Amino acid sequence: TTGPARVTVDLDQGGDIINRHVYGHFAEHLGRCIYGGFFVGEDSEIPNTRGIRDDVVAALRALDIPNLRWPGGCFADEYHWKDGIGPREQRPRMVNSHWGDVVEDNSFGTHEFMDLVELLGTEAYVNGNVGSGTVQEMSEWIEYLTRDDDSPMAALRRANGRDEPWKVPFFGIGNETWGCGGNMRADEYAALARQYSTFVRDHAGNTVTRIAAGSHDGDLGWTEELMRVFGDSLEKSPERRPGPFQAISLHYYTMTGPWEDKGSATEFTEDEWYLALSRAAHLDELLTRHSTVMDRYDPYRTVGLVLDEWGTWWNVEPGTNPGFLYQQNTLRDALVASVHFDAFHRHADRLLMANIAQTVNVLQAMILTDPDSGALVLTPTYHVFAMNTGHHDAAALPVHVSLPEEPRTVDGRELPLLSASASTKDGRALVSLSNLDASEPRTVVLDLRGAEVTAHTGRVLAAESTAAHNTPEVPEAVAPRELTAIRPHEHGLEIDLPAASYATVELTLG
Ligand code: AHR
Repeated sequence: TTGPARVTVDLDQGGDIINRHVYGHFAEHLGRCIYGGFFVGEDSEIPNTRGIRDDVVAALRALDIPNLRWPGGCFADEYHWKDGIGPREQRPRMVNSHWGDVVEDNSFGTHEFMDLVELLGTEAYVNGNVGSGTVQEMSEWIEYLTRDDDSPMAALRRANGRDEPWKVPFFGIGNETWGCGGNMRADEYAALARQYSTFVRDHAGNTVTRIAAGSHDGDLGWTEELMRVFGDSLEKSPERRPGPFQAISLHYYTMTGPWEDKGSATEFTEDEWYLALSRAAHLDELLTRHSTVMDRYDPYRTVGLVLDEWGTWWNVEPGTNPGFLYQQNTLRDALVASVHFDAFHRHADRLLMANIAQTVNVLQAMILTDPDSGALVLTPTYHVFAMNTGHHDAAALPVHVSLPEEPRTVDGRELPLLSASASTKDGRALVSLSNLDASEPRTVVLDLRGAEVTAHTGRVLAAESTAAHNTPEVPEAVAPRELTAIRPHEHGLEIDLPAASYATVELTLG
């Protein structure tokens, strides 16, 4: 059973800044993410602005989402951007072979995506096509998006109704090129990444961070091959500016079964609860291992690591299209997210960005919409993002967790049943606490050192059961409420956390 835990936070030791971009998102042409999720068209009865759902935009604006990755995913390496511009009725169609083999009508293209980015008040992460595209196609896309003179692509953009160039700070050089993006070997892709990145130019004051398609899980060899390119480029560059790409990606999904049977989103045993959380916690080790490889080539950490796909991947909901990856989202997903965020905060020195897969109606979504009524539901994962906005661009604080019991062993790894992290910004500190125990509450002594705390507030996300989730009928089965069980303690504060819960405590510093 769980006894009181001690969480020590050094409030005066703010270190690396937690880049707000680690709270990034991902929207692919997959199932009902774009069509029905973000985009319903101007003629829909669902309130929209130029076809983009107003309720989805409002919900995501409340999260302050820092960036949105598009159009894939695997779809990115099949997508030809010129098919998605110009009058909609004249746009060619294509087959979305990866996701349900459905016909894509290209009605949501570059202008619609950049309109969405502007409505959300976020930043664009556009993922280019290496697998089935050309260098010229990629080069012309960034010119179309960001050039401001009368170049051929800037002129074409104007002819399609957009005068001003857009800003595109992030550009992906293919996706999963070891798999759906072309089944390449690491050395083959490293050569292509070097070539393609060279032609993704900075136009009109737009500075692009080019993100090479990276590894997945524990494949350190792929990371090493890409980092060799940096080693070469740093030696050649007198300014020691890394190039031709400035970041590399990593994908890591949480599932409790094998690929063929990943587990149900809502029907799981207690063992599967702990297995999911143990696999989520394993990300910390993976980030350390990939960073260690990167350090050998880039000891000053100028190259970013971008976890541009992460989250739970369960079996699809019964009765839904297996190619659409639609799954429910429970309190377990919320804690998978909070455990990821703690790892992100600990790796603030190397982690430039992360993008949960995916924002609406696909995998670990923030928002689920009903295909018939259109009703929108905010998931438990949404609420963790909302509770964590105070960590955006805040300085990570050292946190030490001390538990009275031995960690639980799950899947051959140790899983401490309390996860924590903290950050500070603007005279405040935010402490995150995840009680991973499925059935036992936990008292936590927050040992607060190095600064005076003049006020505190808390919020907690908990529910009747670990599988609790939100539906149009019961939209707030899992929703944050005020954390009232906070008491002064001689070392700081004492807090009671319900079983299976996530809490944030905001401190005002004197
Ligand atoms: O997010 C779903 C898919 O997972 C992406 O398209 C692909 O990159 C990954 O395999």
